[in-house]
Order: sequence, then C-alpha cells, then structure tokens
Amino acid sequence: MARSQWGSRLGFILAAAGSAIGLGAIWKFPYVAATNGGGAFLFIYLGICLTLGLVLMLAEMALGRATSAGAVGAFRKLAGGFWPLIGYMGVLVCFLILSFYSVVGGWTIAYIVKSLQGGIMTSDPKALGAIFGGFISDPVQPLLYHGGFALLTLAVVVGGVQKGIEALSKFLMPALFALMLVLIARGLTLPGALEGVSYFVAPDFSKVSASMLVDALGLAFFSLSLGLGIMITYGSYVGRESKLLGSALWVILLTVATCFLAGLMVLPAVFAFGFDPSAGPGLTFITMPAVFAHLPLGQLFAVMFFCLLLLAALTSSVSLLEVVTSFAIDELRLSRRTAAILMAAGTFLLGIPASLSLGVWGDYQLFGMNFFDLLDFVTSKLLMPAGELLLALFVGWKAWPVVRAELSSGRSPRAMQCMRGFCMALAPLLIGCIMVASFR
Ligand code: PFF
Repeated sequence: MARSQWGSRLGFILAAAGSAIGLGAIWKFPYVAATNGGGAFLFIYLGICLTLGLVLMLAEMALGRATSAGAVGAFRKLAGGFWPLIGYMGVLVCFLILSFYSVVGGWTIAYIVKSLQGGIMTSDPKALGAIFGGFISDPVQPLLYHGGFALLTLAVVVGGVQKGIEALSKFLMPALFALMLVLIARGLTLPGALEGVSYFVAPDFSKVSASMLVDALGLAFFSLSLGLGIMITYGSYVGRESKLLGSALWVILLTVATCFLAGLMVLPAVFAFGFDPSAGPGLTFITMPAVFAHLPLGQLFAVMFFCLLLLAALTSSVSLLEVVTSFAIDELRLSRRTAAILMAAGTFLLGIPASLSLGVWGDYQLFGMNFFDLLDFVTSKLLMPAGELLLALFVGWKAWPVVRAELSSGRSPRAMQCMRGFCMALAPLLIGCIMVASFR
C-alpha cells in the first residue's frame, strides 16, 4: 500500500513546525537563556540551530523519505547491527520527555483557569512567585491538570484528529505570533524594560562556559524536536518532488523566531517588574501575568495567551505520543487504541513523581537534582545530544549514498562533500567535546 503523504508541502512544514514549536520555545527557552546570562547564550543557541540543527534536520527528513519508514525502521532498513538502537533510544527519550512535558502542559491549563478567575492579575513579583510556587508544590492540583493534559493528548492521537490539528496549526502560528507581538510591545514600553533587552541580546562572551554550551546544545535539539526520529517519521510522508532543504529551513526559522520573540516577551518584563531572571522553570508563568495586569483587557489577553500556549504544547505532545504509539503498534503488535492508551498511561504515571518532586517529594534527590530536573537533564543533556552524535556518524559513514541521493539534485558536489565531512567528523566532534567538557 502506498504510504500516505502530506496534503501539501505547507502541510508538512506546519506539522513539523507544530511539533517543534511548543513549551520548548515559550516556557523553556526564556528561563534557560536567562539563567545562562542572556546575550551570549542566544547567539550560541542560534549558531547551533543554523548549523548542526539544519544539517541534522535535513538528514533526518532525508532518511525518512528514502526509507518510507519511522524512527526504528529507517535504521533497520539501511543497516543492521546496533544502528537501530538509535531509533529505540529515540522512542525511549520521547517517552521520558512526554512524562514531564505533560506536567508543564498541565500548568498551562491551570493558568487558563486562574486567568479566568482573575486571581493572577497583579504585578507584584512576590505575590506571583507565591501563586506559582504554591500551585506546583501542591500534592494534588498539578496532578489533576497533568492528567487532563495527558487525556487531551491521548484524545487527539486515538481520535485521529491529527488532520484537525494540522488545520489548527495554520491558525495557531499566526495567532501566536500576533499575540506575542502585542505582549512584546507592551513589555518594551514599560520603564526599565530596555535593560532586559540588552541582557537578552547583547552578548557577553566572558559568560561562555561548558555548561552553557551543553545547555544550548540540548535546548536546540529539544526545541527543534531533533534526534528522536520525529523528523524521520514526518519525512517519510513527504513526496519526492518536495524540496527538503527549503522545508527544513522554514521549520528552523519559525522555531528560532518563536524562541526569540518569547525571550523578547519575557525578559524585558522580568527587568521592568524586578523579577529574578534566574527564577528557573517558573519564569514565563510568573512574569507574564504582570504584563497582563498592565494591559487594557488584560484578563482576556491572559486567557488567550495560555490557550495558545496549550495548543502549541498539544501539537508537540501529540508528536511525542505518536512516536511511542507507532512503536508499540509495530513492535508489540497492539491495536492503535490500546497502544496509545497504554503509552499515555505510562507517561502519566512517570509524570507523577516528576510533579511531586517540585513539592512534597523535593527532598528526594539524585546527583543533587530532584526527579523533574533529573528527567530534563537525562533527556536534554545526555540522551538527545548522544542520539544526534550517533545520527551524524550514521549519516556520514553508513547511510551517505542514500542521503546524498535524496538531497543532491541541483546542488554542487562540493556542497554535498562538505555536508558529508560535517556529519562524519565535525558534528560528532563538536557534540562529543561539549558533552565531555560539561562533565568535567
Ligand atoms: N520541540 C518541542 C518543544 O519545544 O516544545 C518538544 C519536543 C517535541 C521535543 C518532540 C522533542 C520531540 F521529539
């Protein structure tokens, strides 16, 4: 049977960008950039996305299109041995990420409710910090919202309404960009906001450290949905005639643009209202309500913002659940419904200790980290970079003829040679050195 294909090239780009753009750009990017000192981090992050990110995204899409297979299948078709392990690792990482992603997705639902009730309309940093802290450390409420988010993700995957989500993405992205522009304009006109702008964009390269580099590397892969086979799977539905380079560039540009806008939306406000830039994972949730409190119709904007954030998170979480579900269908021979329910239940259960570790179980630590941070660390700083390193080696040494055949039309042999060299040596070296340096 012919493999189904995206309705159009735009549909493919939107679905891939829908997976990429989510909590990574709007929740994670601002606080990781802020804790790493701003400007220099932004430049390094952009540099990684436009080099490593672009080449590896292209490679993933090409592997998918060439093999018409998903994460594990693509490696199995092209090489035996231990290579398919890269695919298995990707599935495992999707599972781990989804567990804590769903916890944060739950926070967005809770903040929709809080915005509707009007309880967060203040610009007092202490009060907003206390509201967020009180909420995430509560033993029951975040779990209910986490369950709600997991059910929504499950409903989309089981209900087969992905088409609806694709259609929604067409509206979601322009709406998200427009709303962010309004919020940026408000934030930038607050007294003291310019200090935040310069913190965010003016690079101070004396702050560069190995731990900053590994943060930027992990965040680049996380925000672009790379290294887990998602772009392989999406690429497998692309028609021959589509130009992959243009599509990959679009996905990357849309994602880094969202990250940049999110930084401009959050950081000036952090400085204008006197929040702590190194507040960590709560930064977006603590800061944005203060901006809403200073906008006419602020409550309406708050509801809209958290609704759009929820939808952006859902288009990403659906791609994560889709990968683990397809794996369970193919490898465990389960029906789609059973597979999706089992996997969603599994990620929900793993998310419970992650959520509780931000409150009542905060004292249980491993390597100085609570369980939530540990999951984030293991996925973003260990397994995703390791997966990308292996993927680059795979492309350069094992699958090059196939990847070249997919990408070379209309391109000079020299450009292709450069890409191969990059995958064979430079990319693995760069990733390897950054990982090793950050552990010393
Ligand atoms: N890229 C998504 C985000 O930034 O929110 C998260 C994500 C989705 C990471 C899919 C990895 C992935 F495979």
